[in-house]
Amino acid sequence: MTAPQSAPAPMTVPAVAARKGGPRLTMLTAHDYALARLADAAGVDMVLVGDSLAMVALGRPDTLDVGMDAMIHHTRAVACGVARALVVGDMPFGSYQAADADAVRNAARFLAEGRAGAVKIEGGARVLGRIEAVLRADIPVMGHIGLTPQSVARMGGFKVQGRSARAARALLDDARRLEDAGCFALVLEAVPAPVAQAVTAAVGIPTIGIGAGPHCDGQVLVSHDVLGLFDRFTPRFVKRYAELGREATRALAAFCEEVRSGDFPGPEHSFDMDPRELRAAGLDRPGAPAAEDAPPAGDQG
Ligand code: KIV
Repeated sequence: MTAPQSAPAPMTVPAVAARKGGPRLTMLTAHDYALARLADAAGVDMVLVGDSLAMVALGRPDTLDVGMDAMIHHTRAVACGVARALVVGDMPFGSYQAADADAVRNAARFLAEGRAGAVKIEGGARVLGRIEAVLRADIPVMGHIGLTPQSVARMGGFKVQGRSARAARALLDDARRLEDAGCFALVLEAVPAPVAQAVTAAVGIPTIGIGAGPHCDGQVLVSHDVLGLFDRFTPRFVKRYAELGREATRALAAFCEEVRSGDFPGPEHSFDMDPRELRAAGLDRPGAPAAEDAPPAGDQG
């Protein structure tokens, strides 16, 4: 007799934290119901509603131009599509920088309205106060250091971080302070692999790498990059596992071609009608005027 199949237990913040040094964690981005369902069905541990949606879904040049209302709108859709993964909402640029009260109010919106299980906040020591305020409000926080795309103006572009001895030590310090503050996990973006390895060894919370080499406790990528749905540029750290963009263009072009040639829609895509009803409506002879359009019998002379 086969044992009944039980649904895998939902991923929670403590379950993610407990994976430090254990089986590697996976995280993928999603910003709508369809992609969230696909990622969840694939068994991903965390679905990040990343502010990268500004670039891959809204066509913006960077992640600065997406606000709270849009992020909540997308997070709600993602949460509807996820059964197991932990949904993490990305605090967008301007939603936490000005004051603790903004940070707490906006983070709370991700949980209450978006139905996320946690938020991610970019930055280390500079935003520690904000992160502590959000954590005091019982909202779990995932940190994010290294290349923080919301700092693109200060960094002068999307550049690898932590390459000098001083910058590497600052990253280590940031990671320890985020752990001490109570973050349950930490994204390390675009940092040299040995630095990510040292950070991973130095903290007791899982590190989730993106462009941070093979030694982190988990990995994250933007799903549009993984699936070949975003081709404006491809960072070195991206691996494409499919070319769905090409396949989508092929399918959409085939639709256009079949509509133009008359091959679509065919009888199998059309609805039929009882011939008596058709006759009663005067529609049984294609091209003849319909009953209500036809002149009354008395007018026919
Ligand atoms: O917004 C995003 O997609 C991210 C990941 C790249 C970590 O922050």
